[in-house]
Amino acid sequence: MADKKALDTKIITAGRSKKWTQQLVNPPVSRASTIVFDSVEEMKHATANRANKALFYGRRGTNTHFAFQDAMVELEGGVGCALYPCGTAAISNAILSFVKTGDHILMVDGAYEPTRDFCDKVLAKMGVETTYYDPMIGEEIRDLIRPNTTVLFLESPCSITMEVQDVPTLARIAHESDIVVMLDNTWASPINFQPFEHGVDISIQAATKYIVGHSDVMLGTATANERCWDQLREHSYLMGQCTSPDDVYLAMRGLRTLGVRLRQHQENSLKVARWLAERPEVDHVRHPALPSCEGHEFYLRDFKGCNGLFSVVLNRGNTEALTALLDGMEHFSMGYSWGGFESLILASEDVNKLRTAKKKHFAGPILRLHIGLEDCDDLIRDLEKGFERLNAVLTAE
Ligand SMILES: Cc1ncc(COP(=O)(O)O)c(C=O)c1O
Repeated sequence: MADKKALDTKIITAGRSKKWTQQLVNPPVSRASTIVFDSVEEMKHATANRANKALFYGRRGTNTHFAFQDAMVELEGGVGCALYPCGTAAISNAILSFVKTGDHILMVDGAYEPTRDFCDKVLAKMGVETTYYDPMIGEEIRDLIRPNTTVLFLESPCSITMEVQDVPTLARIAHESDIVVMLDNTWASPINFQPFEHGVDISIQAATKYIVGHSDVMLGTATANERCWDQLREHSYLMGQCTSPDDVYLAMRGLRTLGVRLRQHQENSLKVARWLAERPEVDHVRHPALPSCEGHEFYLRDFKGCNGLFSVVLNRGNTEALTALLDGMEHFSMGYSWGGFESLILASEDVNKLRTAKKKHFAGPILRLHIGLEDCDDLIRDLEKGFERLNAVLTAE
């Protein structure tokens, strides 16, 4: 029966079965390699149920892991959740669990760079071919499907360029050919997009981002539906994927404040994005919750909310001007991540170096911003001064 609990309540209660918490509010950190048994009967029982949260051997997890896995399924959906040491491991293991030599996969052109690299450098070596598709392809994805296509991989919104994909349409067409549909759902976190209600078979999270929420742990998850769970779990287990209970504990702790944090990130990012949209230096803002972002209509249809991550395309800029902007920032640090409580900024002068399906024609360079939980006026003042430094370089040229 569908769980009717309101989302905020679910975030607080998810995974907190007494079996795992032992009556503490948070499940304790249970470290183990060896699990010991007092009788042959006990050992037989553990062996028979080792894939179903019976304590068996450390690599299969302990109560800390089981609590977090339950919480993820309660929030994101599916029937099971596999854990990985980082989001990238979740992506590569999910794909590896469903391909063999001679297969073909479809990968969104705006995928996170290491996801592309995995396809080009690892899958290619195994004899698995990748075709990149335009994130806005819609129904035309059908034309790219071959008899040996086994996986359709989506990331929505895309990394850096932020296009929101029409997930239900792509999933429906893929399923007509029995293709497994995987989604990097990190931007939405487990609460702002319900992947299994939109036709996804496996949903991946870089828990490193908003789930952990404090920029201090690497962790990945993949939740799967009935169709894919057994194969994903067993293949990932056989590839040796396991995680530290300390990291999982911190992820579980981060999860409890995910709802309130995301609401504040959303409020702050929309305020900053609307301010940016009015700036003369800005061509357009690529924030999924604003109409100027490609696929905004799918955001409105499918998502429950947004967060702090979006991009902005400048009218013009070059390396020297961008360096002047970036070097003097007070509240925005440069860092290859997002999802923590702090604001971050990255510049990309050429998004097309990561595009092969369809080139982007942007007026100028792109800035990716993660708007943290600081005061918005401080962030806006910081950006304003950054634009002054950018303009000083551009007008001197
Ligand atoms: C969309 C997306 N997916 C996956 C990852 C990879 O996660 P991790 O850094 O935990 O490997 C990232 C990291 O930046 C990301 O932005």
